[in-house]
Amino acid sequence: MQRLLPPPAGEITVADACRHSRVRLPSGRPWVAVCMVASIDGSTALDGASAGLSSDVDREMMLTLRRLADVIIVGAGTVRAEGYGPPKKHGQRIGVVSHSGNVDHTSELFAGGAGFLILPEDAPATPIESVRAGIGEIDLAAALLQLPGAPDVVQAEGGPSLNGALASADLVDEMNITTSPQVVGGDGARITKGSPATSRRFDLVQLCEDSGFLFSRYIRRRQD
Ligand SMILES: NC(=O)c1ccc[n+]([C@@H]2O[C@H](COP(=O)([O-])OP(=O)(O)OC[C@H]3O[C@@H](n4cnc5c(N)ncnc54)[C@H](OP(=O)(O)O)[C@@H]3O)[C@@H](O)[C@H]2O)c1
Repeated sequence: MQRLLPPPAGEITVADACRHSRVRLPSGRPWVAVCMVASIDGSTALDGASAGLSSDVDREMMLTLRRLADVIIVGAGTVRAEGYGPPKKHGQRIGVVSHSGNVDHTSELFAGGAGFLILPEDAPATPIESVRAGIGEIDLAAALLQLPGAPDVVQAEGGPSLNGALASADLVDEMNITTSPQVVGGDGARITKGSPATSRRFDLVQLCEDSGFLFSRYIRRRQD
C-alpha cells in the first residue's frame, strides 16, 4: 500500500500503517478507536453486511488494528448481521452492546468465553457475563470504565447505531475509515446513525491507498 500522508509518500506495510500511539486518557477511560468501511456514497452496508465493501487489504488492516486493541466493542445488530466469532488474539474479549441482551448465548463467541454483554442496569437477566451501566439507556462512559481487564485501548467495530451513541457522548478518540471505491446506492446507514446533529472536529493524521481503497485515520481534536 502507498502512504499519501503524512509526507514523504511511499510504500508502507499494513503493520506500519497501523502503528500509532494510543494511550489510556488522563480521565482514566480507555482510548476508543472506531474502525469502519464505507462506500464513496457513504453506505456502510451492501446486501446487509460490510463484506461487499471490503478488500483483502482492508480486512488485514481491520485485523491488525484489532490486535493492537485490548478489548473490542460492537453493537448487537452487527453481531447478528455479520455472525461475529471469537477473536484470534488469545485472551482478547468482545463486548457486545445491547439494550435487550437478545444474542445467541450458545454461539462460539459467548460459549467460548470471549464474548460478554454491555447492557443497561435494568435490562433482563442473562446467563452471559455482563457489564451494566445506566438506566434505560447504556451509560457508555461508565461502561468503558468497567470493561474487564481495564483496557487501555478499545476498538469499536460499529455498527452505525453504536458509533452514533459513542460519538454523541464524545467518546470517540480515533476513526479508522476505509473508503471503498464503489457507489452502492440503497439505504445503508452512514458511519454514525441516530445521534443528534453536532460537530466534533477531528484531524487527519494518515492517509494510505491500495487498489483505489483509501485508508484514513482521524484523531479527535480535544482543544478547539
Ligand atoms: N461497514 C462497516 O464497517 C460495518 C461495521 C459494522 C456493521 N456494519 C453494518 O451495519 C448494519 C447494522 O447497523 P446497526 O446500526 O443496526 O448496528 P449496531 O449498532 O451494531 O446494532 C444496533 C443494535 O445494537 C445495540 N446497540 C447499539 N448501540 C447501543 C446503545 N448505545 N445502547 C444499547 N444498545 C445498543 C442494540 O441492540 P439490541 O437490539 O440487542 O438491544 C441495537 O438494536 C449491518 O448491516 C452491518 O453489516 C457495517
